[in-house]
Amino acid sequence: MEHDPRFFKYLRDRIGLDVASVGAPMIERAVRQRCAASGAADLNAYWGLLQLSGAEQQALIEAVIVPETWFMRYPETFNALVRVAQARLVELKAARPLRILSLPCSTGEEPYSIAMALLDAGISAALFTIDGVDISPISVAKAQRGVYGRNSFRGTDLTFRDRYFDAVDDGYRLLERVRQQVRLQVGNVLDPALLKGEAPYDFVFCRNLLIYFDVDTQQRVFEVLKGFNDPDGALFIGPAEGSLLARLGMRPLGVAQSFAFVRAEVLPVEPVPTPTRAAPPPRPLAPPVRSRPSPPLPPVPQVKPPAAEKAVQVTLEQIASLANEGKRLEAMQACDAYLKHHGPDAQAFYWLGLLNDVGGDARKAQDFYRKALYLQPQHPEALAHLAMLLAAQGDSVGARRLQERAARSERTADSERKR
Ligand SMILES: C[S@@+](CC[C@H](N)C(=O)[O-])C[C@H]1O[C@@H](n2cnc3c(N)ncnc32)[C@H](O)[C@@H]1O
Repeated sequence: MEHDPRFFKYLRDRIGLDVASVGAPMIERAVRQRCAASGAADLNAYWGLLQLSGAEQQALIEAVIVPETWFMRYPETFNALVRVAQARLVELKAARPLRILSLPCSTGEEPYSIAMALLDAGISAALFTIDGVDISPISVAKAQRGVYGRNSFRGTDLTFRDRYFDAVDDGYRLLERVRQQVRLQVGNVLDPALLKGEAPYDFVFCRNLLIYFDVDTQQRVFEVLKGFNDPDGALFIGPAEGSLLARLGMRPLGVAQSFAFVRAEVLPVEPVPTPTRAAPPPRPLAPPVRSRPSPPLPPVPQVKPPAAEKAVQVTLEQIASLANEGKRLEAMQACDAYLKHHGPDAQAFYWLGLLNDVGGDARKAQDFYRKALYLQPQHPEALAHLAMLLAAQGDSVGARRLQERAARSERTADSERKR
């Protein structure tokens, strides 16, 4: 199959999957598996079957998708959502409920996390609706069932499970009042008819999908998402996808680690008073980005001569804040200061990689990602970004090696979590 590009092309055209992103061996394995399961005599016969059978097409898609997800994945995102949702509700003056899209929603953990975060913030159920869309009917059916095992609860703060789930024999069943906030449907982001006739969404979550697409498809999907998103709304993406949006004229919302973007021309969101809460408040937010006078971010230390080094106390959180606010040069200075003070550090090198990547210096970005990986060989974001850089430079073998390494480390982490 190494030299049979038909299946790669089929998956790329049909669902956007880029062979370089998941690696050819993964797709080849899935095709061989489906070929055997379908009873086709060989790959040629399987190719013929695939052209004729919608059910087989869906089965192949199920075999290659990565449905990996969990509740409150990147918790800062949900804090940021609460803030922008509150501000938007003030703007809307209760004219209509907030509209939120989770695409892809996989098995439902993401849209239900959105619902729980908003309910926790005291936003009443009547004030928001969430649509969840995914290409996988199996995942959507699981989301509809609303019963989850241990693997869906991975964070350190699982108090939401006590508030919103009942323990049942095969896991935890989500309460009906959360489930009814979310409308689920099967859909393909590449389908021009998807969500036709739907009003724009205030907030669009498209996390951990673009990483599986090549650059052309990413840009195409980005235009689709922009079309779904109200011009004053925000787009939430995954950590490995930020550099792409920065290149496409979006600016970060400015909440550290939230991976939320708005159109470059949108004014920053003013903080609004938090309503009385029915449940514990979300964790405090890092300061927002401001074109008007900013709330005090700790000053960015300048690189000091050795004698003054004791005074330098920049933190990784500050670096993340600056990077997410789009203050690239200050963030890079802060990384230098951090490294001077603390010595070699994988996370600081990763930030330097990302900041150079966003700045268009692929060579330097590559060097820094490699340094991060030298110190922390399984650093997931450094692996993902370096793989994307190599793939963009045509080094598909190097990219594949990194993806396989990332997949191995994900599997190890997964089995450790299950223990
Ligand atoms: C890694 S999960 C991400 C789920 C969730 N957004 C998150 O970040 O936790 C990726 C999902 O994308 C879905 N997917 C892949 N290609 C798609 C497409 N073309 N249209 C819609 N969903 C797609 C897969 O079925 C899978 O559930």
